[in-house]
Amino acid sequence: MNILRFSDLCAQGRARGQRVFIRADLNVPQDDAGHITEDTRIRASLPCIRMALDAGAAVMVTSHLGRPTEGEFKPEDSLAPVAARLSELLGREVPLRSHWVDGVQVAPGQVVLLENCRVNKGEKKNNPELAQKLAALCDIFVHDAFGTAHRAEASTYGIAQYAKTACAGPLLAAEIDAISQALANPKRPLAAIVAGSKVSTKLTILKSLAANVDQLIVGGGIANTFMLAAGLKIGKSLAEPNLLAEAKAVIEAMKARGAEVPIPTDVVVAKTFAADAQATVKAATEVADDDLILDIGPQTAARLATQLKAAGTIVWNGPVGVFEFEAFSHGTETIARAIAESSAFSIAGGGDTLAAIAKYGIEKEVGYISTGGGAFLEVLEGKTLPAFTILSERAGSL
Ligand code: 3PG
Repeated sequence: MNILRFSDLCAQGRARGQRVFIRADLNVPQDDAGHITEDTRIRASLPCIRMALDAGAAVMVTSHLGRPTEGEFKPEDSLAPVAARLSELLGREVPLRSHWVDGVQVAPGQVVLLENCRVNKGEKKNNPELAQKLAALCDIFVHDAFGTAHRAEASTYGIAQYAKTACAGPLLAAEIDAISQALANPKRPLAAIVAGSKVSTKLTILKSLAANVDQLIVGGGIANTFMLAAGLKIGKSLAEPNLLAEAKAVIEAMKARGAEVPIPTDVVVAKTFAADAQATVKAATEVADDDLILDIGPQTAARLATQLKAAGTIVWNGPVGVFEFEAFSHGTETIARAIAESSAFSIAGGGDTLAAIAKYGIEKEVGYISTGGGAFLEVLEGKTLPAFTILSERAGSL
């Protein structure tokens, strides 16, 4: 993809003394007291900020936090905790500026954080007047917010239309490079794990991957629907019987290409959905009417682990069982450890997947961990994200 990269501008000395506006995704989870509970996105945004400072730019950084009502700033919408964490991580004070749309005081070598950009009126609908004002604040706009790359808002899309120069930050560039490496030109076999409660929310992803991957491993409620489609009984497990035809079509599309959707041959069931429910391993053909399938069984997990260890590329989205409950976590753990041990290039994304990676401590063994939630899923669906559309348009007009 032809996009201008901020790293190239910096290497050419073109950021020196320039006003650089970085759109980051610092949308991090917080507890009720406002403490940040997970700061991956803040840490992932540091290279771009450091790059701009090292290049001698006057640096403005902004992000959304949550989904506030435009024009109605509330204390819980504030990026103050993010400013504090950024200051710690950068080892320098990062002042937080409010009411910044009409002008920002910042000198070369300084960095300021601009309050929650989603509180600005017109942000969500990409209002052109707002976008032009944002663009007027800077000489260089840097889109580094992969997690928000699927949104066309004033601070992600409109500003890129009007800024003198618009380019991709290192995180945005790394994310798309990693996903393209995994999907566009993968080392084969290419295995994808798509798990989650509903086929309906991931149907486009399943269809898109069915045309490309060698093994499409399904998990969770999605696997239950596929088991039904394969003629198995699933008791009272979560499934979407209305999507059986779609699931069958995916299985057939894979078969026609000589690829497969591995259907579980054994499962872990319980009578109730609870952490202390009695877990029973059963053959997939033995599921009773009052059983709930809460995990894949050990035989299935071992077979999938063998496939993953032999894969050339792995894309992972979603745990294959209720891994938050110890008794139903073993399938996901086996998959996670197989990915860690595999020599395949692996890429993982999505909130639950990241939680599983953290639980099994395999962060260093996964090839690339995406900071995107919805954005990661939309790339898997085969969509071109608005961030890349506008940046390549701007690069084309240079
Ligand atoms: C995310 O958390 O996935 C991103 O920050 C995007 O947030 P949004 O779904 O509110 O646009």
